[in-house]
Amino acid sequence: MLWVMKLSGLLSAAMVTVVLSPSLQSFPPAEAIRSSRLRQFPFRQAPAFSNADQCAAIVGGVGGPGVCDPSLVHIAITLDREYLRGSVAAVHSVLQHSLCPENVFFHFLVLEPDLEALVRSAFPNLRFKVYSFNPDRVRGLISSSVRQALEQPLNYARNYLADILDPCVRRVIYLDSDLVVVDDVSKLWATDLGSRTVGAPEYCHANFTKYFTERFWSDRKLAGAFSGRRPCYFNTGVMVIDLDRWRRFGSTRRIERWMQVQKGGGDGARIYELGSLPPFLLVFAGHVAPIDHRWNQHGLGGDNVRGSCRDLHPGPVSLLHWSGSGKPWARLDSDRPCPLDHLWAPYDLYGPSP
Ligand SMILES: *[C@@H]1O[C@H](CO)[C@@H](O)[C@H](O)[C@H]1NC(C)=O
Repeated sequence: MLWVMKLSGLLSAAMVTVVLSPSLQSFPPAEAIRSSRLRQFPFRQAPAFSNADQCAAIVGGVGGPGVCDPSLVHIAITLDREYLRGSVAAVHSVLQHSLCPENVFFHFLVLEPDLEALVRSAFPNLRFKVYSFNPDRVRGLISSSVRQALEQPLNYARNYLADILDPCVRRVIYLDSDLVVVDDVSKLWATDLGSRTVGAPEYCHANFTKYFTERFWSDRKLAGAFSGRRPCYFNTGVMVIDLDRWRRFGSTRRIERWMQVQKGGGDGARIYELGSLPPFLLVFAGHVAPIDHRWNQHGLGGDNVRGSCRDLHPGPVSLLHWSGSGKPWARLDSDRPCPLDHLWAPYDLYGPSP
């Protein structure tokens, strides 16, 4: 009997592969990297970006600074096959708008270390480090969510930055892979966090109730997590994090504990529907250092299925974020872009020169 079950397991795995493979083929970067022709990188080399005269000198001289140099701006971003094109564009955008691009240090979280060579080929002078994120760290903690993309282990890597990065890195900007920065990132870096651990643009008019289930709100013990604070929604795709405080307060464990509550309750007793966001809200909402909304003009992804396009929120723009299910590269490739997708295109390094 057991072998029958094993066989049927194998068969269904094979079927999943067959069903999935057309969609893999439809995404060229993933396919190009998957192929053995690794020398043929699918990305063009970015132009060289150098510091203006007034930039702080970097200690360490030839060979580059160590990651502990105090004049560095630290940015963490994930790299995976599916969003690679977006991550590369995000890096490109940061460099292009920085007065001191050589002082920016990137921390890339990956599941597959071979992406390091690709980063090097696109950005020969970039200061960066690649970290392998062990998906086992979160596998037992992830529960199914409304959108499968939200269940990817790398989505949860932001929970572990304080563990993964060198202890001398005391502050980091976390950026999603579906955004471009159109202002000098050192302004975001200089954010005053006061006594807070996390800084992000807050949205206090958003209906906070909807991020958690009825079961959560009806359980006095659970909902009591928010007592004594006025929680507001914030988007976890752009955060300035004080890693010292994060480490001191054990924020990773606190996030994990909420993930355990969600997972432990089983499907009938979920306390939220989304992926990595709600535990962040549970731990930090109401205790977030507010950052100007210009640093996260979010929601531009809209919805690919319904073909809806979003407009910018009123006010100035320092960062454009295609959060939501539609991504600018996919829409541009299919010749059905939203108007704002054309603002993403100049940072795209995929393929031959346009
Ligand atoms: C907020 O969302 C909850 C849950 O979706 C809903 O029941 C409630 O009516 C909403 N409140 C407002 C003011 O829209």
